[in-house]
Amino acid sequence: MLRHWTKIAEENIDIEKYFTKFANLIKKLSFMKHLLFILLVFNVCTTMSAQKLEPIKLNAPDKTRGSVVMKAFADRYSERNFSERKLSLQDLSDLLWAACGINRPEKGMITAPSALNKQDVDVYAIMEEGAYLYDPKAHELKPVAAGDFRPLIASGQDFALKAPVSLLVVSELSRLGNANDEGTRLCGAIDGGIVSQNISLFCAGCGLATVPRGTMNKNELVKALKLNPTQLLVINHPVGYSGTSDDKDVFTFNLGQFKLSTLAEKMGAGNPKILIGATPELIQKYLPNGFQSQVNAFLLQTPGKNILIDAGLGRGNLLKNLKSLHVTPEQINVILLTHMHGDHIGGLLADGKKVFPNADLYIAQPEYDYWMKSDNKLAHNVLDVYKTRLKLFQPEALGSKKQNIFSGIQGIAAYGHTPGHTAYLLESGNSRLLVWGDLTHVTAVQLPHPELAVTYDTDAKQAIASRKKLMEFAAKNKIPVAGMHVASPAVGAIQADEQGYVLSLTPAPK
Ligand SMILES: Cc1cc2nc3c(=O)[nH]c(=O)nc-3n(C[C@H](O)[C@H](O)[C@H](O)COP(=O)(O)O)c2cc1C
Repeated sequence: MLRHWTKIAEENIDIEKYFTKFANLIKKLSFMKHLLFILLVFNVCTTMSAQKLEPIKLNAPDKTRGSVVMKAFADRYSERNFSERKLSLQDLSDLLWAACGINRPEKGMITAPSALNKQDVDVYAIMEEGAYLYDPKAHELKPVAAGDFRPLIASGQDFALKAPVSLLVVSELSRLGNANDEGTRLCGAIDGGIVSQNISLFCAGCGLATVPRGTMNKNELVKALKLNPTQLLVINHPVGYSGTSDDKDVFTFNLGQFKLSTLAEKMGAGNPKILIGATPELIQKYLPNGFQSQVNAFLLQTPGKNILIDAGLGRGNLLKNLKSLHVTPEQINVILLTHMHGDHIGGLLADGKKVFPNADLYIAQPEYDYWMKSDNKLAHNVLDVYKTRLKLFQPEALGSKKQNIFSGIQGIAAYGHTPGHTAYLLESGNSRLLVWGDLTHVTAVQLPHPELAVTYDTDAKQAIASRKKLMEFAAKNKIPVAGMHVASPAVGAIQADEQGYVLSLTPAPK
């Protein structure tokens, strides 16, 4: 019976005639009526469930992101430890474009070479909600079937179940020639292998985890995705963020002659209600699974100094993180504060005493003035305990060339979150990085919507203006950014898109 249906589709037979013949046959075999009914119901159900999936319009590829190709080769390896965190739309878009997207629109040519340019390889994206087919022309994911088919991809290798998306690389052999011909099958496998390597290198260059896998339940996938017999399932790639980067708290990056380490402290589930005026629809759109709140301090190691930028909450994690880098509190020479909220200065004191006995403490003058007038006990204790080492400075306006802290380090006015909230622009050789402090708290929402303030902002209007200005500056000048409430590894490239900004996190160094 199934063969009959396939025949209709494949041979484009006169359907009316076919049905008459078919009806006669059914009259003779009454039990088959029931079977036909069941099949029809099944067919309608699966079609309806596939219809529930909407096409996913992908973002334009960010062709400037990622490491240089030699570094991607150096970094490529098979990662089997996946975080369950969903891929951002930009990461998903760039991943598919890199796999086999159109890179020469005028000729319709794609990123992966193929035998005789037959472009025989199709990439299916298998996600929790369903399976999609990547359409390179529309740069869109077209729904194929609703349902979670990742177990068919995992096929016993449970690590693959955790990855938020698995790409299934399939060669449609009929585009190459006779599907049964050995040469055709070889070309299909080679073309699929090339797409597989595109995926691997994109992931290595852009900080995503993947492994090419031959293991999969091919028979059931053929049924679930309604594949033709001429389609060769070449390989699959679970793709996600590395599970190991979720577990780690310390990441070190080179910045010219400087070394910058993110020192992360995890604070558990965050509360999106701190966003002023964010609708439930907006929260659902950007945070379908909520968000994990974290606070980062950074250790900046220049040729002569160990500089701490902020000091975190002070629950012991800062010292543990420093210890893992073999840096003792006594070896910290300088502390730069972005502002004086408790989750940035908590680590400066332990039992009311100095934690960093040899450090000068840099605070922007307007920040100092504000907290001196406040009745905040922690701020007063810090200012008192460090009073002989205080270095007050005036932050520079954005775009100023004056390096007001040290050579290669500039404090920039980013007022609003607090009256003296300060960002730091770091520069060594050709490398620059903007440590933007608390410019975002719920980063996944405030990047696309920089106009949303949080309840902690002292002056919401000014905080919004600073956020917009600094994001625009970093995106325009292609300056990577680091934030105190950005998810690990907390350093990334910011880019403007149709709506607000997107941040592509830099690969977590191993
Ligand atoms: C054709 C092919 C099939 C593979 N199938 C699987 C697989 O089913 N499961 C798996 O965990 N790894 C699979 N791998 C990954 C290899 O085990 C891995 O590439 C190899 O051990 C080398 O490690 P590396 O990728 O880190 O260099 C496959 C790799 C290739 C090229």
